[in-house]
Amino acid sequence: MTIMDISILQQGFVLHFGSSKDMATYFAPGRINLIGEHTDYNGGFVFPGAVQQGIVAIVRPNKDRKVRLWAPDLQRGCTFDLDDEKGPEETHFRYVYGVVREMMARGVEVRGIDAVYAGDVPLGAGMSSSAALECCFAYALNDLFAGGLDRMEMARVGQATEHKYVGTMCGIMDQFISMHGREGSLVRLDCRSGEFEYFPWHPEGYRLVLVNSCVKHELVGSPYNDRRRSCERVAQLAGVETLRDCTWEMLEKLKEQVGEEDYRRAKYVLGEYDRVMAVCDALQKDDYETVGQQMYLTHEGLSKDYEVSCEEIDFLVEVARRCGVTGSRIMGGGFGGCTINLVRDDCHDKFVAEVQRSYKERFGVECKVIPVVIGEGARKLKIEK
Ligand code: GLA
Repeated sequence: MTIMDISILQQGFVLHFGSSKDMATYFAPGRINLIGEHTDYNGGFVFPGAVQQGIVAIVRPNKDRKVRLWAPDLQRGCTFDLDDEKGPEETHFRYVYGVVREMMARGVEVRGIDAVYAGDVPLGAGMSSSAALECCFAYALNDLFAGGLDRMEMARVGQATEHKYVGTMCGIMDQFISMHGREGSLVRLDCRSGEFEYFPWHPEGYRLVLVNSCVKHELVGSPYNDRRRSCERVAQLAGVETLRDCTWEMLEKLKEQVGEEDYRRAKYVLGEYDRVMAVCDALQKDDYETVGQQMYLTHEGLSKDYEVSCEEIDFLVEVARRCGVTGSRIMGGGFGGCTINLVRDDCHDKFVAEVQRSYKERFGVECKVIPVVIGEGARKLKIEK
């Protein structure tokens, strides 16, 4: 969000809650993921980066045990008590409720707050607007109430919120990167050990762009949890904790036993481990053509074996291929949302024009092209007033 947008939000806070005294401003970003999709909950590797779009919250502790929220984007607010065992019904507000309760469960002495928040991560685009919301509030509460949680623990607060209060059995990638993002760098995270490494991302002659299909992706209640269950069933039959420890040989031996559909799901996941490794090798050599090829292969797996793509997204990937884009695939949880595209500079303008034209022609709606700038993780903003 621009300084201008933030200052409007601050004015909104004053209008809603009476004064600007002691208000503090926090930000947490959404994310992209270069490669390593649906691997996090399988103990594998992911390769995300934070984006500059995110959620901004203006927060001030109050004197009672109530959380008062106002979301100008929704033109709605919500109030709940810290000790309320059930919390609000609307999913959107449950993200904040879950964070509050999970912070309390970790011993943070949370008090009541007044808060106004808004964001510029497109909703349902697969860029993790919900993780940005969770991480923004986790960071704010930790800071305001001297919670002492480290960034990984705050990421877990966000993940636990998804699991226990919203019902999406997600992995750790989105919350991890919203907390750990670094300007200009992607991060390779080993989701089994929690170890991670920053990779400066300055691909000379190439850039990343997202194309939002504007098919709304909604993981809550989506087959996302079914995919996870398929993987867990195969892991269990293989006698390993997660598919990270399942080899190709083990999977082939189980082929008959696991059934055709679960076999395909697991085959995608094992293949994706190999592709992330291939991309890491290629990046050491600045070999972006190989990176791009692996992205196309990932898309094929996500579309045919994992079955989390849709007609609109498959079309966007095909247009990219036709235009000579280096790599393209569906990004994030799936079922709509964005494609991520690795595009040579000299191909960029042609691709953008063609993808906009042909998408409109085919589906009658506009797709949205979003340039990617890799930004910083969650933080307190110091804004001059
Ligand atoms: C969603 C989840 C993540 C991850 C991706 C797929 O974004 O929140 O944990 O599983 O889907 O890679």
